[in-house]
Amino acid sequence: MLNKIQELKEAIEALQANSMEEIEAARIKYLSKKGEISQLFNDFRTVPNEMKREIGQRLNELKTLATEKINSLKAAFEDTADANAELDLTRSAAPCAIGTRHPLSLVKEEIINIFSRLGYSIAEGPEVEDDWHVFSSLNFAADHPARDMQDTFFIQRNPDILLRTHTSSVQTRVMEHTQPPIRIICPGRVYRNEAISYRAHCFFHQVEGLYVDKGVTFADLKQTLLYFAREMFGSETRIRLRPSYFPFTEPSAEMDISCDLCGGKGCNFCKHTGWVEILGCGMVDPNVLEACGIDSSIYSGFALGMGIERITNLKYRVKDLRMFSENDVRFLEEFKSVH
Ligand code: DAH
Repeated sequence: MLNKIQELKEAIEALQANSMEEIEAARIKYLSKKGEISQLFNDFRTVPNEMKREIGQRLNELKTLATEKINSLKAAFEDTADANAELDLTRSAAPCAIGTRHPLSLVKEEIINIFSRLGYSIAEGPEVEDDWHVFSSLNFAADHPARDMQDTFFIQRNPDILLRTHTSSVQTRVMEHTQPPIRIICPGRVYRNEAISYRAHCFFHQVEGLYVDKGVTFADLKQTLLYFAREMFGSETRIRLRPSYFPFTEPSAEMDISCDLCGGKGCNFCKHTGWVEILGCGMVDPNVLEACGIDSSIYSGFALGMGIERITNLKYRVKDLRMFSENDVRFLEEFKSVH
């Protein structure tokens, strides 16, 4: 009997199973009422008294061993069965959140699209610039207040290296190495030393436009602006130009569009004027052309510059500029349907 117990013990220890059916078969083989271990318990009656103690103990150990082995095989098998269930290849894919494009990117792209339909191509320049490209080449007088520390971020106390305060710097970069005809738009980020509030930020985005060729006139500028305004804000949009001043254009103007909230009748949004300002523009000052190596007796041109945040605010009524850089997903998701 001891031999039989030892034999079963070894067989149970070596037990392995590839399926629930095999585990069940093993349970029946050893532990069911007619199983081999139960059989031994039946035979126990015939064991001589002096051996009952030892054999009884061994039998009990064998039964515990078999029960534990069967249970652990079952547990291991259920784990792998679960893992296999997760690999159900017929299930549809798990949903994953798709991001949205940033409103400023959407509007930037729309501006680019409108101008590319007029034959403009994109030009870019560095955000860390020198005084020449941001100011001097653009006809800023040496004592012009825009060079002041209040507006400009300088790099390492060096008055020559700075963060560009406008994308007009890209005009110079292009004109320096390209002869007309030039037709470019320059989107990009700019920096100004402003206190951050709902209406001002220390960085924002602009698109600069430049057209230089023989015989370019203010009438070309006006027509281009009207086309842009109507493409951007709708075919009913009207524009008006007010005289203004920029060092790099002469004459200079600021452009307003009719307020599309009240249709020009006057409301809170347009401060009851019926008009909202959207960009600065003008005829490129001959000094600027000459500074960049373009003969101003042959060529003329116009330039324009607009803030992307401003256009976005007008189009989507974003009241607080800070929303653009806070990365609040709830805000960004509002633009899901804009393409
Ligand atoms: N650079 C100007 C600014 O930052 C915007 C601007 C005005 C650009 C008139 C131009 C222009 O090209 O002609 O405020």
